[in-house]
Amino acid sequence: MDISISGKVVLVTGAGRGIGRSLAVGLAAEGARTAIMTRNADQGDRLAEEIGRSPGAGPVLPVVADVGDEGAVAEAVRRIDRQWGRIDALVHNAGWMPPASPVLDTDVTRLRGVLDTNLVGSFLLTKHVAPVMIRGGGGRIVYISSMIGVQANQGLAAYGASKAGLNILNNVVHRELANQGIRTVALAPGLTDTPGMRASVGEEYITTVAASYPGGRIGRPEDILALTVFLCSDAAQHISGTLIPVRPVTG
Ligand SMILES: NC(=O)c1ccc[n+]([C@@H]2O[C@H](COP(=O)([O-])OP(=O)(O)OC[C@H]3O[C@@H](n4cnc5c(N)ncnc54)[C@H](OP(=O)(O)O)[C@@H]3O)[C@@H](O)[C@H]2O)c1
Repeated sequence: MDISISGKVVLVTGAGRGIGRSLAVGLAAEGARTAIMTRNADQGDRLAEEIGRSPGAGPVLPVVADVGDEGAVAEAVRRIDRQWGRIDALVHNAGWMPPASPVLDTDVTRLRGVLDTNLVGSFLLTKHVAPVMIRGGGGRIVYISSMIGVQANQGLAAYGASKAGLNILNNVVHRELANQGIRTVALAPGLTDTPGMRASVGEEYITTVAASYPGGRIGRPEDILALTVFLCSDAAQHISGTLIPVRPVTG
C-alpha cells in the first residue's frame, strides 16, 4: 500500500498555530512540498525557517492571505503555481470559533466575521485551488470542519452554521468535480488543545468533554496528522464527499 506523500505539493491554510501548524510541520516531515498560508508574513517566515531546519523535511513556501480576501487568496495560489507548477492537496484548516454567544446576543458583525472566515474562505480556497489541481490531473481537498456543524451546541449558532455550510460545500464540490479528479473530505476533529480553543472555552467544559473521549483526554493537534497524510495519499482515492468525525459522535 502506498501512503507516501513525498514530493506532493500540499497547501495548508491557517498554518501559523494550532492544528494547522502541526499539520504543516507533519506533512513537510513526510516529504511533501508544503505551502503554508498565514495572514501574518512573519509568522509564516518563522515557521518556514523552523521546518527548513528539520532534516529530511520537504521544501516549504510561505504565502500570505486572509482567507476571506479573494484577491489575496488568488495571488497566493498563483505564487504556489509559479513555484511548483501544481497543487496536489489542499488542507483547508483556517477557521475561527469565537466564544459562545446566544443567538439573541450575537452581533451581526461577529456573525459575518465567522461566516467570512469559515465558509466564504473555504469557498474561495476551493475556487482558486481546484482549477490548478484539475490542470495537474486531480487532487485532494481536506476541509477541517467540526461536528458542531452536525450536532448543535448552545451559543454556537454562527460557528455551527459556518461548519454546516462547509460540510455541504464538501459534498457539493465532490459532486461537481469528482469526475475531474477532485477528491474532497470534511474532517471533524474533536475538542483539540490549541490557542484558538483555549481562547474560546473554559476549563470546566474541557474537563467534561475529555471524560467522554478516548483515554479521558481531549485531542492534541497531532492526533489528526496520520489520517490527513493518508487522505492526501493515492491510497485514499475512493474516499470523497464524506464527513469523517474524529470524536465519539454522541460524545
Ligand atoms: N481546536 C478545536 O477544538 C477544534 C475542533 C474542531 C474543529 N476545529 C477547527 O480546526 C481549525 C483550526 O482550529 P485551531 O483550534 O487550530 O484554531 P487556532 O488555534 O485559532 O488557529 C486557527 C488558525 O487559523 C488562522 N485564521 C483564522 N482566521 C483566518 C483568516 N480569516 N484568514 C487566514 N487565516 C485565518 C489563524 O491565524 P491567526 O494566527 O492570524 O489568527 C490561525 O493560524 C479551525 O477550522 C477550527 O474550526 C478546531
